[in-house]
Amino acid sequence: MARLAEYNEERRPSDPNILIIGGSRGIGAETARLFSCKGYNVAITYNKSREKARSVLEDVKACNPKGNHKLYKLDVRSYEQVRHLANQIEKDYPYINVLVYAAGILQYGDIEQLTPQEWHNVIETNLTGAYYTTKELLPLLKKAPWASIIYIASIAGETGNIVAGAAYSASKAGLIGLTKRLAVELAKYKIRVNAVAPSFVETDMTRQFLDTEEKRERVRKLHPLEIILQPRDIANAIYFLADPQHSRGITGHILSINAGRRT
Ligand SMILES: NC(=O)c1ccc[n+]([C@@H]2O[C@H](COP(=O)([O-])OP(=O)(O)OC[C@H]3O[C@@H](n4cnc5c(N)ncnc54)[C@H](OP(=O)(O)O)[C@@H]3O)[C@@H](O)[C@H]2O)c1
Repeated sequence: MARLAEYNEERRPSDPNILIIGGSRGIGAETARLFSCKGYNVAITYNKSREKARSVLEDVKACNPKGNHKLYKLDVRSYEQVRHLANQIEKDYPYINVLVYAAGILQYGDIEQLTPQEWHNVIETNLTGAYYTTKELLPLLKKAPWASIIYIASIAGETGNIVAGAAYSASKAGLIGLTKRLAVELAKYKIRVNAVAPSFVETDMTRQFLDTEEKRERVRKLHPLEIILQPRDIANAIYFLADPQHSRGITGHILSINAGRRT
């Protein structure tokens, strides 16, 4: 709770609505906590991690007790489920100001080991789900007085030079293309579209690469700043890109958060 209180100092005056796809763990969960403490109503989706999502909801309620916060079950690979989610959200919120697409799975190893099934699973989860959710939530974004979409890309989609494999890198490069195209296309509705592109962040996704001091040191040394990025570092950047008070002129931008790593 002390950690949450730090967010509290600068509450937003109104009560905008954010929907975080993949808010049960990691970067999405931390984004939920941050935005609730900034005065947002927070809707999060989970797929497998129901208990973790409930715990995130408790944190969110603790920081913004009067907010309208909701949990939804969603597998982003199912277009039917995404359509159902959009119908549910429409009943619970008048509009969505911020859509964050944080659902994702890692794939690593060489193309020789990459099966077609794994390729499709990664692309569907990391990229196709972003298309499904953006398409189905667009009417609710258009209804908002201001709106913004943030995708979580990756250094893997920028340089390819990280532990992630071809399917993961391709999915993240795809998100970068989606960001650039939709920024142009949705500007007529004044909807901004941006992405963050983190390097290694300490979450469940990267746990196996950070579970000994030796491995942690190796990851630190990959980054000129010699730090291990934390979910809050990414959530802060998402807040900057989402909120028009900070970034109303920024759209189609890929904000690299890489502790100085360029390759
Ligand atoms: N960690 C990093 O180093 C790093 C770096 C660059 C980019 N990213 C990207 O940041 C995003 C968040 O990653 P993270 O590190 O926070 O990972 P994480 O802790 O493993 O969380 C992944 C999230 O995605 C959700 N998810 C996975 N498959 C899903 C599906 N089929 N349908 C709906 N939701 C699904 C999970 O939900 P459930 O648990 O409820 O199933 C969970 O909320 C991902 O797109 C990842 O690629 C991460």
